[in-house]
Amino acid sequence: MKSHISLLTALALALALPAFAAEPAKEQINTVCPISGKPVDPNITVVYEGKTFAFAAEACRTKFNEVRANSLYQKLGGKGAIDAAVELFYKKVLADARVKHYFDDINMNKQRRKQREFLSAALGSPIPWTGKDMRTAHANIPGLNETHFTAIAENLKSTLQELKISKDLINQVLALVGTLHDDVLNLPKPAK
Ligand code: HEM
Repeated sequence: MKSHISLLTALALALALPAFAAEPAKEQINTVCPISGKPVDPNITVVYEGKTFAFAAEACRTKFNEVRANSLYQKLGGKGAIDAAVELFYKKVLADARVKHYFDDINMNKQRRKQREFLSAALGSPIPWTGKDMRTAHANIPGLNETHFTAIAENLKSTLQELKISKDLINQVLALVGTLHDDVLNLPKPAK
C-alpha cells in the first residue's frame, strides 16, 4: 500500500510540476518611487520599454510620463535609437586618427554598453547612470586635449546626422555634451 501512495504522489507531482514550471516568473519591480523617493504602491505602474516602474502616487506616475515625453532620449527615438547611434559612433571613433589610439586596449563591447547607459541617462531615460562621473572616468587618460574632445563631438554629430536626427535635436545633444567638456578634459572647476 505504501508503495502505491508514493507512486500516486510521484504521478501527481509529475503532472503538477510542468504546470508550475510554466508559470511566468514575476517581474521584480522597484520598491522606491523614482519621483518622490517614497515606498511604491505596486498598483500604480507604467510599463516603459518593456520594464515596469512603480510609483508612490498617481501624481508621480503623471510626472514620470511627462518627463519621459519631454526627454531628449524619447525625442531621439528611445532605446533603439541610442543603441544604433552608439554602434555607429564607435565605428567612426575607431576610424578617426585623432582619437582611435585611445581605444587600442579598451574592451569595446564594454565601452559601447557603458556609453549606451551613460548617454541614455544623460538624455533622460528612466534608468540612472551608476558608473563613474566623467571627470573620474577620464582623469587617467594621458594627454587628452581640445582636439580629442572636438573629434568625439564631431563624430557624435555626424552619427546623428547620418541617422537623420533633426538639426534642432542634434544641437540639443551637442549642448549637453558641451556641459561635459571641462570634466572630460580635467580642467579646473570654475570658482563658485
Ligand atoms: C562628452 C564626451 C565624452 C563622453 C560622454 C564620454 C563617455 C565615457 C563613458 C561613459 C565612459 C565609461 C566610464 C566608466 O567606466 O564608468 C568613458 C570612458 C572612456 N573614454 Fe570617454 N567620453 C567622452 C570623451 C572622451 C574623449 C574625448 C576621449 C578620448 C579621445 C575618451 C576616451 C575614453 C576612454 C579611453 C575611456 C575608457 C577608460 C577606461 O576604461 O579606462 N572619452 N567615456
